[in-house]
Amino acid sequence: MDFLLPNALLMGVSSAATQIEGGEVNSNWNDWYRQGRITDGTDPATANDHWLRWQEDTELLAQMGMQVYRLGIEWARLCPREGEVDETAVAQYRQELLLLREKGIRPLLTIHHFSNPMWFEKKGGWTRRENLKDYMALVELAVDRFGDLVSDYITINEPNVYATNSYCFGMWPPGEKNVGRTLQVMENMATCHIRAYQLIHEKRRKMGYTDTMVGAANHLRVFAPKNGKNPWHRLCAGLSEALFQGILLKAMIRGEFAFPLRNFDHIPKGEYSDFHGLNYYSRSTVDSIGDGVRENCPKNDLGWEIYPQGLEECAAMLYRQLPRPIWVTENGTCDNTDRFRCRYLYEHLKVLSRSELPFARYYHWCFCDNFEWVEGNSAKFGLVSVDPQTGVRTVKKSGRFFSEIIRRGGVDRELYEQYVADEEFEVR
Ligand code: BGC
Repeated sequence: MDFLLPNALLMGVSSAATQIEGGEVNSNWNDWYRQGRITDGTDPATANDHWLRWQEDTELLAQMGMQVYRLGIEWARLCPREGEVDETAVAQYRQELLLLREKGIRPLLTIHHFSNPMWFEKKGGWTRRENLKDYMALVELAVDRFGDLVSDYITINEPNVYATNSYCFGMWPPGEKNVGRTLQVMENMATCHIRAYQLIHEKRRKMGYTDTMVGAANHLRVFAPKNGKNPWHRLCAGLSEALFQGILLKAMIRGEFAFPLRNFDHIPKGEYSDFHGLNYYSRSTVDSIGDGVRENCPKNDLGWEIYPQGLEECAAMLYRQLPRPIWVTENGTCDNTDRFRCRYLYEHLKVLSRSELPFARYYHWCFCDNFEWVEGNSAKFGLVSVDPQTGVRTVKKSGRFFSEIIRRGGVDRELYEQYVADEEFEVR
């Protein structure tokens, strides 16, 4: 064996509602498309048509041997107007969850993943404290309607990525460039994560369940100085790390709100995660405050560095905050022609398997190629491809490799030779 996966590790894939479902829902992303802001012009109203094909997709998950599946709910679909709930949408999500359970696939439900209904967006969205009750109502709805079928929850996906892309860099809706608002969104999301953590536990306890697991999906990167001997570069790496993820993480996991985040809701210090959701993709190399990529290193098709060791480095960052199991809630790469994804999987799973940290789940990002936010459908992260004309799903070589890893509980020489040996990362 090249490596054996940890015994208790559950393996599966991850998805997000807006990226797969399709449909003319009135969300900020459908709106962003209408404003012509998607680079390749593809429309989230199509995405993967998963809303129409959920049965077929669930069958495929089962055929591929998935043990766990991370899926999201679309807020704008469930609540098309303020204060209104679409019961047909509730019913369909319930059917999907039921089918997953029937197939022996354990669902992990993401309550918020970058998308807001336009009625929420128009009144200031996540920037305004008085709007946070709307997210809390969504949490309540999720547990009331799905709480008997789901024990594992992600409150919010990647608050740092959402806040910076939407309010600092202006790339995502509503396209603002305002540092003050970016920080407001971060502190509001951290507050909501903790309030949701408490509410989900409280409600499921009342329903008689004792197996509830709640966490956030944290996007973490390794920040490295461009030149390790240059004190300025080192300072910039430290500051970028703190501003992008470090300070926010402490607030979310520990209820410790340090400057520049404010603890306006008077949350006591505590322990607000039952597991650490880790979304890990890459390392940033910096010589100023912000982001950057080193030269001459393995890169994916979006130019992100491929740095497998970072998976453990980021998991260790989380574990230092609070000793909890690590669930890799996303890890994957943009490989448009599936020419190095098997090696990517191999190198990352090897790091995970050899680590002393308590990795308990691994959700590959992602299942089917999907709507990759502003990149549209052009950036492909999937184990399964989707024909743009017919919607037909085809399992890629990397998808077959993933299934074999699950079946064999690791990678042996035969699998390595068959899937990985011929693949190289491109160094640029
Ligand atoms: C997000 C996903 C996204 C992935 C790849 C993560 O930041 O949670 O929605 O598709 O990265 O870019």
